[in-house]
Amino acid sequence: MATAPETQAVTLIDGKAIAARLLETTRAEVEAIVAAHGTAPGLAVVLVGNDPASEVYVGRKIAQCRKAGIRSIEKRLPADTDEGTLLALIDEMNADDAIDGILIQLPLPRGIDASLVLDRISPAKDVDGFHPVNVGRLSSGTGGLVPCTPLGIMMLLDTVISDYRGLNVVVIGKSNIVGKPVSMLLLEREATVTVTHIETRNLPDIARQADVIVAAAGAPHLVRGYWVKPGAVVIDVGITRVTDADGTTRLLGDCATHELSHAAAVTPVPGGVGPMTIACLLSNTVRAARIARDA
Ligand code: GUN
Repeated sequence: MATAPETQAVTLIDGKAIAARLLETTRAEVEAIVAAHGTAPGLAVVLVGNDPASEVYVGRKIAQCRKAGIRSIEKRLPADTDEGTLLALIDEMNADDAIDGILIQLPLPRGIDASLVLDRISPAKDVDGFHPVNVGRLSSGTGGLVPCTPLGIMMLLDTVISDYRGLNVVVIGKSNIVGKPVSMLLLEREATVTVTHIETRNLPDIARQADVIVAAAGAPHLVRGYWVKPGAVVIDVGITRVTDADGTTRLLGDCATHELSHAAAVTPVPGGVGPMTIACLLSNTVRAARIARDA
């Protein structure tokens, strides 16, 4: 009797569960720091203005700090804050031993030069990994603090891939926050990395060559089933809120996940990359605190 060909179910990489485990590890590390040094690591979270999405992100970061035992120091400044005031605040926080990590929530209001502001943060407290010193360290493979979303993406990939050598990875998106740094991390692991973007020609053909796709374009359902070769691993970094004709809203990733049953593993949206970003921020804060205290 003929048997039906075996079909392998696609693995859903559970970012929520993996982030919860990282949070637990971070909490244990915080307790060890408190036991050894008497004070918990401190993270300063700076919000300039009242962008509603930023309010939500900052609220989540502060709530997770509390869960991990990290002291959060909240700094809220009005939207019309001038650049000089923000730079002076950063100088103050750089000099404050009670602050181990500094996070300036982006985007900043118009009129404030974000690169000037990020460059002012001490590289040792730059838990976002956006300072040019940390960017340089990442691209030369010489340590430093690594941006949180790329760090989280690697942790998710590590649950399904042990050896990256020679794997074809296609990164969609060349942002400083995700596309470029995740490409550097993958290169360090000796993957063959192709970075693509909005101007890339024949993107579906390029994507179809990939063993791993990291989709970080911010374009809902850009990656369709026929872009993905059977057995590929797909990391969906996109999260866009769309409103349907009847007024209901949904969060969509960059990948049409319902068309990816032939993939080996995919991350859901929400519940994939998103939870990892905050967990990695806290883990970076503990790393910065440990280095500061051992110095
Ligand atoms: N805004 C959107 N993503 C980020 C991030 O990773 N860090 C900061 N500071 N702001 C953001």
